[in-house]
Amino acid sequence: MKIGVLTGGGDCAGLNAVIRAVVKRAEDYGFQVIGVRYGWAGLVNPDVVPLSYKDVLEILDVGGTILKTSRTNPLKNPADTEKVLANVKRLGIDVLVAIGGEDTLGAAHKLAAKGLKVVGVPKTIDNDLSSTDVTFGFDSAVNVAMEMIDRVRSTAASHDRVIVVEVMGRHTGWIAIEAGLAGGADLVLIPERPFDLDEICQQVKKRVAAKGSAVVVVAEGVTMKTSPEAVSKESKVDEFGHVKLGGVGDFLAEEIEKRTRLETRSVTLGHVVRGGSPSAFDRVLATRFGVAAVDLVKEGKFDMMVSLQGTRIVPVKLEEAVAKLKTVDETLFNSVRTFFE
Ligand code: F6P
Repeated sequence: MKIGVLTGGGDCAGLNAVIRAVVKRAEDYGFQVIGVRYGWAGLVNPDVVPLSYKDVLEILDVGGTILKTSRTNPLKNPADTEKVLANVKRLGIDVLVAIGGEDTLGAAHKLAAKGLKVVGVPKTIDNDLSSTDVTFGFDSAVNVAMEMIDRVRSTAASHDRVIVVEVMGRHTGWIAIEAGLAGGADLVLIPERPFDLDEICQQVKKRVAAKGSAVVVVAEGVTMKTSPEAVSKESKVDEFGHVKLGGVGDFLAEEIEKRTRLETRSVTLGHVVRGGSPSAFDRVLATRFGVAAVDLVKEGKFDMMVSLQGTRIVPVKLEEAVAKLKTVDETLFNSVRTFFE
């Protein structure tokens, strides 16, 4: 049995921990592993490297991915799709373990329909995949963002300022709400709840009147009540058709300062929360996911994804996992809204 393993989409902490676990478990079963470099791109134009346990021994705590990554969409044109399928055969890959988010796993599912034997592992700082309680990479990102918000809060307090902190998360507010809550933010704006500039300014004024300063955490994909489009600097899209987000923090800071006359700054955390070493939680989850993915290979269960449900790792259909985004629901927001009003 030869397993191919690839990492696709935006990187996150814990990818290497999954790769290490896949290789370890595969060796337990006497399976071979080859790493595919640069995500799907490494199968369109073959770029592979054999992996043994000694190659991955020391990567548990290393950020990023030793296999590199890309946002290449193998379904974008039929010629690339055919190349992927042909190269998998040519390389002698029996089963592919695809570690990725919505885009990478969506492609994996479509390729499964064309005969590829594939098992998915849910990765993303955004935590927006359905059918799993959480994706690995999210906890590490939240911890970094929390630390940054703590730091911003103390400088905001010293200067009696408003500071807007923009965090990633694509079209969901998981990082914003969890990091905002953990970091003691005064206001959190998430894509699931379109905002009104006047209301935001009223809330900011209220907080500043009460404590002298305010920290506003905003998720990059937020929209205003007046328009369904996310407020972003650019309109570029990637191969999966996703627009490049970012810029709402600066916009908000300017508007708040103009409308409230309160001194306001903005900081964009961006890729900072994606890089670096995984948290203990993510190291454990990534390791459990990697082991479970190879167990699925052994059991011959394909077109499936490993997921966390409660405390158990459970296989779910890839189709269901990528069918719709997991968003922050009203119940969660309402249970903590007292901190953000
Ligand atoms: O999906 C992960 C993510 O980090 C999003 O939160 C963000 O919008 C996007 O990737 C950024 O992508 P890139 O690294 O291509 O700028």
